[in-house]
Amino acid sequence: MNINELWVVCQSPDFSEAAQALAERLGQPLKFDIDLTDLQAPEFVVVFDHHGVSLQQTGRKAPGPIRTEFAEGAVDHRRKFGGGKSQMIAKAVGVKAGVYPNVLDATAGLGKDAFVLATLGCTVQLLERSPVVHALLHDGLDRARSQSPFDDPELAGIIARMELLAVDSQNYLEQITDENRPDVIYLDPMFPDRQKSADVKKEMAAFHHVVGKDEDADSLLEKALGKANYRVVVKRPRKAPFIANKTPSYQLEGKSSRYDIYTLKKMPEQLGSRGL
Ligand SMILES: C[S@@+](CC[C@H](N)C(=O)[O-])C[C@H]1O[C@@H](n2cnc3c(N)ncnc32)[C@H](O)[C@@H]1O
Repeated sequence: MNINELWVVCQSPDFSEAAQALAERLGQPLKFDIDLTDLQAPEFVVVFDHHGVSLQQTGRKAPGPIRTEFAEGAVDHRRKFGGGKSQMIAKAVGVKAGVYPNVLDATAGLGKDAFVLATLGCTVQLLERSPVVHALLHDGLDRARSQSPFDDPELAGIIARMELLAVDSQNYLEQITDENRPDVIYLDPMFPDRQKSADVKKEMAAFHHVVGKDEDADSLLEKALGKANYRVVVKRPRKAPFIANKTPSYQLEGKSSRYDIYTLKKMPEQLGSRGL
């Protein structure tokens, strides 16, 4: 993980504590009430304002801010019209009627995949080690949690199935014992060449700046294989090599990405409770 220079910018005194905590964790400067329109450097800033937390590129031609949104936009659209259990991720993880595995998402990012799994009825533990990405995801979950009980009880139920922890999965996996093994461990580490739509490009450029390349993905897979009950699922760009050169039990291939599935044990016909 490499942290390039970035500023933490606090645009309202309401968020000064959270902004200060992040700046201290990152060892980066904290600035107050900055006019971002003419700012050219550093290349990225993390902004705390009344919209929530966002990661923004600076400069006149910069794309819009990146923030975590569960109640609107692409993630919300996929929840409502995305195809439910017929989605490839559902098949990869093994979700079907009566089978709702609990999933440890060891590379949470902005929580999009975890949100799909929680929408399908899985309980998901999300682990994120980058303080910046964790701040974005924490904010998105918080906003969805505080808005949804009134506007959208179904969304509230989904968010209630997602638990976020600010940890390095390498350490977390080592602490898992036979008593608390997750049914499925899900991995989607950063891969340098993955980019398609303008949105993904924007997000990837920003992630490469604040997260780097996840060079330790091989050992994460090795550890995960020793800790999941039924399977480990790895999301990869379609043409990428296997992580750790390890051939999966089988693969599911989509247009731009694929899932490598490492099965450990057959899943039972009934698992978990959908809790909806
Ligand atoms: C490609 S993103 C994941 C995107 C995610 N699947 C989504 O749907 O939004 C990879 C994320 O995994 C995180 N990550 C990688 N290795 C990790 C580890 N050992 N522990 C915790 N987080 C890790 C990175 O910081 C990065 O935010």
